Amino acid sequence: MPGPEEFVVTPYEVRGRVDYDRLREMFGTQELTAELLARLRRLAGGQLHPLLERGIYYTHRDLGSLLDAYEAGRPFFVYSGRGPSGPLHTSHLAHFELCRWFQERLGVPMYVQITDDEKFWSRGGLTREETVRWGWENLYDILALGFDPKRTRVFFDSRSIAALYPLAIRVARKITYSSVKAVFGLEPSANIGWIFYTALQTVPAFWPSWAERTSVPCLIPCGIDQDPHFRLSRDIAEGLGYPKPSLLHSRMVPGLLGEAAMSTTGASPENALFLNDPPKVVERKVRNAFTGGRATVEEQRRLGADPEVCSVWALWKSRFAESEDRFRKITEDCRSGAMLCGECKGLLLERVHRFYTEHAAARERAKSWAESAIVTGPPAGLEL
Ligand code: TRP
Repeated sequence: MPGPEEFVVTPYEVRGRVDYDRLREMFGTQELTAELLARLRRLAGGQLHPLLERGIYYTHRDLGSLLDAYEAGRPFFVYSGRGPSGPLHTSHLAHFELCRWFQERLGVPMYVQITDDEKFWSRGGLTREETVRWGWENLYDILALGFDPKRTRVFFDSRSIAALYPLAIRVARKITYSSVKAVFGLEPSANIGWIFYTALQTVPAFWPSWAERTSVPCLIPCGIDQDPHFRLSRDIAEGLGYPKPSLLHSRMVPGLLGEAAMSTTGASPENALFLNDPPKVVERKVRNAFTGGRATVEEQRRLGADPEVCSVWALWKSRFAESEDRFRKITEDCRSGAMLCGECKGLLLERVHRFYTEHAAARERAKSWAESAIVTGPPAGLEL
């Protein structure tokens, strides 16, 4: 058990108050420097995505060499995924939002992986019907962010296994039991599906190179908790003749109840805004959310509040502040005491309700093409 100062971050557990600088050192990832961000801004036509601008993505692996290749005329693709264990909440959208931005700005293809198998193996309480049903629900939410149907493909693991398996066979032979054990710390009671699963999470990173019979660089925006999977992918990539995937890692967004991190297991439904929450529930959750406010109005007017610990500020930061100016203003008015928490919550709710309404419409449109985006078989000639 970790002590009060300690924390655990693995793909299957996030616990304790995460020290992100230490985590970067422990994982050995590279800092997302101002220089790299400036380069990305230039390539993207002068603007950075807020998730990059505001430091929610904070480390990477080999982003520089991916950009070198891009500038030399070698296009890459983006890849991210979702383990469908239940409804998505607004913070889950971050990685897909960033992928969509890359697609829009640089015209790159996107591969989404929906891991209905992973969640069936790693969450004992879920049935197959549930992981498949959530897989579809989550996929509609993801595609609704505005992906281009012509450049977006989906691996829905149980449906796409014929497409994934020829490569998974090769990947699995390169990954040893002891490295899986070392990276994920699985308990002796873990089922063997879970042990194999990491091979399937690697496959999309190599798939375009395999299908196109040429080296296609891959960029994976993901939570830093997913890094262990991709350390394995990177270790084996060159042995199979594929480029090591590059990664962009985000911090975990804090929950509404004010815990240090949104736990990946057993998260309380009150801790996040789920995309299937009705407006009344959204309203209640925001009104009850933990803030950095003071005990009394008088004190807050005099001393200001602390945005750094506030879950409402975290929502503004991670998605709802529509511009850097707005974000700066909200932060200043919070710190100075000019804006009280109730007012801030009211303003946020306007943004959130608008987002939910627009998202619902986009989701209906996404339903019409989701099925056709699923990859169901291997590329011609590569059936083995
Ligand atoms: N393992 C991830 C989860 O539990 C799902 C996933 C699959 C993923 N492929 C990915 C996440 C690529 C990020 C990037 O949600």
